[in-house]
Amino acid sequence: MIHTAQLRSRSHLIIAAALALVGLAGLACDEDHGGDYPEVDCSTADVKSFAEMTVWGSCTSCHSSALSGSSRQSAPEGVDFDSFEAAMAQADHAAAEVAEDEMPPGGGLSEDAKNELYAWARCGTPQ
Ligand code: HEC
Repeated sequence: MIHTAQLRSRSHLIIAAALALVGLAGLACDEDHGGDYPEVDCSTADVKSFAEMTVWGSCTSCHSSALSGSSRQSAPEGVDFDSFEAAMAQADHAAAEVAEDEMPPGGGLSEDAKNELYAWARCGTPQ
């Protein structure tokens, strides 16, 4: 004897579980769009604060709010790395540019400097 009611509730459970999985996959996918640069395990990474980081020294000769006009060497206005707020607004963008060796122009940033930026951008952009 088949208990139809029981079967039906079970298939509802399966559908609910399937929907939950699809939802999770969607979330994971959204996170990937945070920028095209390496993932970081924030529980083990050495995450430096903005103030402790040295990588900015490779950016602020062009990207600084203290520079204007031609002294910016064509770096877009407002894309600056001399203050925490300005850098935070560009965190994912900056990490992606560095990962692609687009920035600084010509590339050449050390792996340590890149990792410093990836960890900061992935792990909460500490001040
Ligand atoms: C020698 C000057 C110079 C240095 C140093 C430099 N940049 Fe740039 N940056 C530019 C110029 C010029 C542009 C605009 C042209 C372009 O996007 O390639 C730019 C654009 C950018 C953009 C915006 C890109 C876009 O498509 O909107 C980001 C983000 C950026 N730089 C991050 C950085 C970071 C992070 C560093 C340091 C690791 C850095 N830059 C070092 C000159 C520089």
